[in-house]
Amino acid sequence: MGLLTGKTALITGAARGIGKAVAMKFASEGANIAFTDLVLNDEMAAGLEATRKEIEALGVTCRAYAGNAADFEETQKTVKQIHEDFGSIDVLVNNAGITKDGLMLRMSEAQWDAVLNVNLKSAFNFIHACSPIMLRQRGGSIINMASVVGVHGNAGQCNYAASKAGMIALAKSIAQELGPKGVRANAVAPGFIETAMTAQLPEDIRKDWMKKIPLRRGGQTEDIANVCLFLASDMSSYVSGQVIQIDGGMNM
Ligand code: NAI
Repeated sequence: MGLLTGKTALITGAARGIGKAVAMKFASEGANIAFTDLVLNDEMAAGLEATRKEIEALGVTCRAYAGNAADFEETQKTVKQIHEDFGSIDVLVNNAGITKDGLMLRMSEAQWDAVLNVNLKSAFNFIHACSPIMLRQRGGSIINMASVVGVHGNAGQCNYAASKAGMIALAKSIAQELGPKGVRANAVAPGFIETAMTAQLPEDIRKDWMKKIPLRRGGQTEDIANVCLFLASDMSSYVSGQVIQIDGGMNM
């Protein structure tokens, strides 16, 4: 028996990166997986299907759903379909996210809107669609993927930091609203994680980051997946409304 055997987990933006690592970890602990991602071309469609097959190879049911998490109507339809396909939604991980960095004075309205819509509104969309299901089940765990910059801010990322701060406040508010019916909500705040995004950073900037991290290494996607597993499972049955920073001790 795995920690999530018999549960259905829905993860947004999980074709690659942290979301994929979370989906793989959950599947390895027995959860059936529904995941979404944006599909704008054939390459993205192939990526979605490749990840679906990789997860299914772990011995669980896995279905992939193409869709824009920032679209309210589309999300309502997707979640309805997932509920029909799986019969329950026990864990929701709001992971889909983008960056469009820039200093405030140079930031366009389009940069602001895109990041807030994909990073924050998407979580509202999915929580709005999933919470009636979780309330009827009298249980569920919602995990919002925030960031350390959502706690501490970051020059050049005002849109991203605001969206991630919103993810934290959203989780805390939902924890208060849905807690009486057994639904928990938490946020995780990753620091410097070794992904395609951080691999592009110049060596000197990378070195500066490492100096700030007591554990002197970047995080692996599995470091995030492990904490999500804890929050998704009954191991955290008395943990709600929290934000867990996963950053090698960078912020204390
Ligand atoms: P990534 O870019 O590798 O993965 C993000 C996924 O979200 C992609 O598969 C992308 O197609 C999908 N996505 C983007 N827009 C979407 C939309 N409108 N609808 C549905 N799916 C969409 O990024 P990564 O690094 O795996 O990040 C995952 C989450 O973790 C994000 O929310 C990010 O902000 C957060 N995070 C990442 C950190 C890092 O160091 N990589 C640090 C802190 C937080």
